[in-house]
Amino acid sequence: MTYTETDVREFFDQTLEAYLAFWDSDGVLHTGYFVDEADDDYHGASDRTTEIVAADAGLDRDSSVLDVGCGCGNFLMGLAGQIGFRGVGLDLSEERIKFAREKLGGRTGLDIRFDVGSATGMPYPAGEFSHVVSQDALFLVPDKPKTHTEIFRVLRPGGVFAFSDFLQPKSEISERSRKHVYDRVRWNGGYSFLGYQTALVEAGFEIVLARNVANHLGQTYRVLRGMALENAETTKDTAVREWMKAFAVSCQEIQYAIADGEFGWGIFVARKPA
Ligand SMILES: C[S@@+](CC[C@H](N)C(=O)[O-])C[C@H]1O[C@@H](n2cnc3c(N)ncnc32)[C@H](O)[C@@H]1O
Repeated sequence: MTYTETDVREFFDQTLEAYLAFWDSDGVLHTGYFVDEADDDYHGASDRTTEIVAADAGLDRDSSVLDVGCGCGNFLMGLAGQIGFRGVGLDLSEERIKFAREKLGGRTGLDIRFDVGSATGMPYPAGEFSHVVSQDALFLVPDKPKTHTEIFRVLRPGGVFAFSDFLQPKSEISERSRKHVYDRVRWNGGYSFLGYQTALVEAGFEIVLARNVANHLGQTYRVLRGMALENAETTKDTAVREWMKAFAVSCQEIQYAIADGEFGWGIFVARKPA
């Protein structure tokens, strides 16, 4: 089965409640960057990934930042106040944007907003942003080259595209990984570590940095499995409890998929030539 943008949108609309019940009411949903192998602080690791992407991007108070696939909006809400940049978050899921807008409503002094829309056809003029960031979102887009063309278009010359994303290191995927890693989140398939860089160059970007960080992906799902099993014990809502148990099984399968080279994670920085 090939998933469409509509399948992806429906999935992320429908899973918001379960995700919030599991992660936390703040909506922390991305892969962590851990201090060492003993580190099991998922929230700290998740925040660290955000800090790394922001530092790699070189964000400062003069930046105008677009977060593509912003989900619940944590990247911009966490950093805009701290660094002082102007930001826009874009996401396919109306539910996630609604959550982000409600959360933003309670904060003052931030020059950010959230829009519903797709990375494959962005509602912004050419050259609008100095930076485009994204965390674990672009892998879901069925037409990835179209996304790269759009990101290239909305960046000003010399602009920076910094992001983390999931990788498909091997071209052949086993049935088990297909079920637990790919179908689980309506993901058709992705780039290898090198294939991603080739695709960005084909879209006109210069590669500034590429980090293969699969070890942190493995640690994220090791820690999340423990959290899922622990939370399942205390959750009263039967549907959420069943979701957590199924997720714990998937977390174990994800370890196998990473070990077999069927799932990976990368952090990349690319530049639109000046
Ligand atoms: C795994 S979540 C990550 C959310 C957020 N970046 C974070 O780190 O918490 C992936 C997000 O990508 C969004 N997404 C998927 N396809 C998209 C598209 N074509 N355009 C915009 N957003 C998309 C989903 O709706 C979802 O909110």
